[in-house]
Amino acid sequence: MYSIEPIRPGPVPPPAAPRSFAEWREAARELLAAGVAPDAVDWAAPFSGAPAARPAPHNASIQLNKPAPAPVLPRWLMDLLHAAACCRAPDRWALLYRLVWRWQHGEQAASDRDPDWQRLHAMVAAVRREEHDMQDKIRFHERAADAGPPRFVAWYAPAHDVLPQVAEHFVSRMGRVSWMIATPDASVLWDGATLHNCGPLVADAAELTGDGIAPWLDYYRSVYPAGPGQGAQRVIPLLAAGTRRGSGAAGDDAAGGDPGQHPATLDECRRCDLWQHATQPVGGAGSKRARIMLVGEQPGDQEDIAGAPFVGPAGKLLDRVCEAAGVDRRAVYVTNAVKHFKWEPRGKRRMHKTPAQREIEACSYWLEKELAQVKPQVIVAMGTTALKSVLGTSHVTLKDMLGRALRHEGRWVVTIYHPSYALRVPDEAARKQAFATMVEGLRMAQELVDKPGAA
Ligand code: URA
Repeated sequence: MYSIEPIRPGPVPPPAAPRSFAEWREAARELLAAGVAPDAVDWAAPFSGAPAARPAPHNASIQLNKPAPAPVLPRWLMDLLHAAACCRAPDRWALLYRLVWRWQHGEQAASDRDPDWQRLHAMVAAVRREEHDMQDKIRFHERAADAGPPRFVAWYAPAHDVLPQVAEHFVSRMGRVSWMIATPDASVLWDGATLHNCGPLVADAAELTGDGIAPWLDYYRSVYPAGPGQGAQRVIPLLAAGTRRGSGAAGDDAAGGDPGQHPATLDECRRCDLWQHATQPVGGAGSKRARIMLVGEQPGDQEDIAGAPFVGPAGKLLDRVCEAAGVDRRAVYVTNAVKHFKWEPRGKRRMHKTPAQREIEACSYWLEKELAQVKPQVIVAMGTTALKSVLGTSHVTLKDMLGRALRHEGRWVVTIYHPSYALRVPDEAARKQAFATMVEGLRMAQELVDKPGAA
C-alpha cells in the first residue's frame, strides 16, 4: 500500500528547478512533444527551460518513445495542477509531469486509490490550508500618515507558494489603500491600482518597522518618482510582466488632472482623503422622484464592495423597518452622508471608523446635489452623522432630535436611530425599543408626505 507522506513545507526550490507553474508547463509541453518519459526527467537538474539541454541520465529509452501532441487538459485538472504546483514538496514538478504524461497516454480515470492522484490531492489540500492560514493570520501594521505609501505593511513566512493568491484576496478586500506584504522569497506591493510583484525586499518582520525599511522605500520611490509622501498621483507599472491593473484605478483618475473642489463625478472626488482607502465611492440609490430620502452615515464593508448603499446587515434591518412602517423601500431614495467607506484594519477585517466632521462637510457637496436632483419632501436622518450633514452643523445631538420632525430649508427632517445601532445594542429589550422608534419615525415621515400639514 502506498503511503502518503505528510506534506511538510520544503525549502524554496533551488533556481535550478522550475520557478513557477508557467515555467514547468512550458518545459512539460516540450518534453511531452518529444516523447520523454517521466522517469527520464530530472526535475531538480539545472534548468534552462529547454529540455534538449537537460541532462537525462537514464535516457536511452526516450528516443524510442513516439513524439505525441501535447494533451489538451480539462480546466478542472489544470486548476488542480496549478494549485499543487504551489506546494513546496520536492516531488511536485515530477508528480505533475507524471500525471500529465499518464493522461496523455490514456490513463484518464482519476481514481481515489491511485497513489499519484492521492498525492496530488494531498498537495492541493496543503496549499488551500496555507492560503487560508495566511489570510487569517497575517497582520497589517499601519505606518504613520506622513510616511507616504505604502500605508500598511505586513510580514509573513508562508509554508507554501501562496503569496499571489493571498495578494489577490487582499486586493479585493482593502480597496485603494496602498499596502505591501513581504515574505522571505517575494513581496507584493499594491499601490491602490496596480499589483507589483517583486523579489524579497526585506529579510524579516523587524525590517518592516525598523530602520531597515529603506530598501523597499527605494523601490517605492522608483514606482512613484514624486517619492513617498508626495501622494500617489502617477502609477508607473515597473514590472510590466508582473503587474495587474485594478478596477476603478486611482491612477486612471489621477492621470486626468486635479478634479479640485468641484469634481464632476463621484469617481473623481478628492475632496477628502477617504477615496484612497475605499474600493469605490457609493452614491445613493432609489427613485429619483422619491418624496422620502433616507440618509445613513457611510457605506460599510459590504456596500464598499458592492457599490450600493445599505445592502449589508444594516440594509436588511432597514428593509424590515420600512416594511413594518408601511413604507415601500422601492419608492424611497437611500443614500449616505459620506460616500466612501472609512475603516481601520483589525486583523484581517476592515472595521468601520466614524467619519470626522471635515469629511462630513467635504461630502455634503454630494448630498446637496442629490437633494437638488431628487427634491424630497422629507429627509429621514438615520443617526448622528446623517443629522449633522443634513442640518449642516456639528452642534446637534441625536438625543435632542430623535423622533421629532423639524422644518429645515423648506423640507421636513425626521431623525431616527441608525440601523446599525438597532443591530448592535446588547440587550433584546433595547433592540426592540430601537426598532420600534425607527418604525415610528418612518411612519411619521410617510404621514408628512401624505398630509404635509400634519406635524
Ligand atoms: N451603514 C450606513 O450608514 N450606510 C450603508 O450604506 C451601510 C451601512
